[in-house]
Amino acid sequence: MRPASAGPLAPARLPRPLALPDFPWDSLHPYRARAAEHPDGVVDLAVGTPVDPTPGIAQAALAQAADAPGYPTAVGTSRLRGAFIRWMARRRAVPGLTSEEVLPTIGSKESVALLPLQLGAGPGDLVLHPRTAYPTYDVGARIAGAVPVPVDTDADPESWDVDNQARVSMVWLNSPGNPDGHVLGVEQMARVVAWARARGAVVASDECYAELAWEEPWASSAVPSLLDPQVAGPQGRSGLLVLYSLSKQSNLAGYRAAFLAGDPVLVSAVTEVRKHAGLLVPAPVQAAAAAVLDDEVHVEAQKALYRARRETLLEATDAVGLVNDPQSVAGLYLWLSGPPSMSAYDMVGAFAELGIVVAPGDFYGQAGVGRVRMSLTGTDERVAAATARLRTSQAADLFRS
Ligand SMILES: Cc1ncc(COP(=O)(O)O)c(C=O)c1O
Repeated sequence: MRPASAGPLAPARLPRPLALPDFPWDSLHPYRARAAEHPDGVVDLAVGTPVDPTPGIAQAALAQAADAPGYPTAVGTSRLRGAFIRWMARRRAVPGLTSEEVLPTIGSKESVALLPLQLGAGPGDLVLHPRTAYPTYDVGARIAGAVPVPVDTDADPESWDVDNQARVSMVWLNSPGNPDGHVLGVEQMARVVAWARARGAVVASDECYAELAWEEPWASSAVPSLLDPQVAGPQGRSGLLVLYSLSKQSNLAGYRAAFLAGDPVLVSAVTEVRKHAGLLVPAPVQAAAAAVLDDEVHVEAQKALYRARRETLLEATDAVGLVNDPQSVAGLYLWLSGPPSMSAYDMVGAFAELGIVVAPGDFYGQAGVGRVRMSLTGTDERVAAATARLRTSQAADLFRS
C-alpha cells in the first residue's frame, strides 16, 4: 500500500495528445441519413472503396494458400517480391529493382500513417505533403510528433513557403492525386527530388492510382513513377520511396495488400521496425497479391468499368452545372466545383436531397473549399440511379446559383 506521506500521485503522461484532427467522415452522418431516405435507396459515392468483385485469380490463390500455420516473414515470399519487381518494370518503367528494394505492407494507408515514425522522424522535423490531399499524410506526421506542412506539389518547390533553415525530413507526393486527379510529370517530380536531396530529405510518392489514367498522354503511356530513372537521375533511388497498393487496381482493399519500394537503406530501416512490431502481411494475402500482379487482363477490365462510370458521371454533373477540375485526368474521383454561392457542404446537402453521398472538399485541405469529391466506386446500377436523379428538374433547382 502506498503510504499517505508519499504525496500526490504524478499526473499520467499517457496518452500523449497527438493533436489528431477529427475523423472527417463522422461529419457526413446527417447527410448520409438524409440520402438514405431516398425511395430508391442511397448512392454512396463518398468513399473510394471498391465495389466490384475481387478477381477470381485472387480468390483462388488465397484459398489455395489457406493452410498457413506458421508466421509469414516481414519481407514477404520471394514469389511475391519477384512478382512486384516484374510488375514495376513492366507497368511503371522502373527496371532492375532488387529484393532488398521492395517490401510488402498491410495496405498502403498504414505506410502513409506510419512511415514518418518508422523512418525515425520526430519533434522538430517537418513533413511536407500536398496541400490538396488525402488527410493521412498530415496524420502520419502528427503520429511521429513531427510537423505536417501543406505545400503545392504541382508548383516549383522553390516557391514553397519553407524556411531554408527548417529541418525538412520528408516530402510526400501523390500522383495521380486523391482527390484532385492531378498527375505529376517527369520534370516536376525531378525538381522535387533535387530540392529534397539538397536538404537531405526523403521523398515518398504514393502512387496507388497509377493504373487509372483517363486522359492523354497518361492514358496510353505510364503515369511517371518517382523511381523512373528519368526522375531519380544519376543518384539512382537514393532517398526515394514509392508506395503502391493493390486495393484499387485489383479490388483487393479487403485483403490489405500493398508495397514499399526504393532506396534499400530506407527499405531496410522500415523492415527492421516491421519485424520487431510483427507487421506482417498474412501468407494467403501474399499469395493472392502475387497472383494479381502477374495478370493484366483483370486490371484492364476494371479500368474499362471505371472509365464508363466516369464518363457517365461527368455528363450528369455537367448537366447541373458542376465543373470537374480540368487537371483531374486520372484516379478514382471527380473533383467538382459548383456555383460560387454554394459552399462544399451546401453541395453535399444538395446531393443528399437526391439520395447521393459525396465528400466535401474541405476534408482535403484549404484548396478544397467550394468543391466536392465524387468517387467512381459505385456499381453500374447505382451510377445509373445517380445519373437519372441528376437529370431531374429537382436537381437543376438544387444546384441553381
Ligand atoms: C492517396 C491514397 N493513398 C493510400 C490509400 C490507402 O489505400 P490502401 O490502404 O487500401 O492500400 C488511399 C485509399 O483511398 C489513397 O487514396
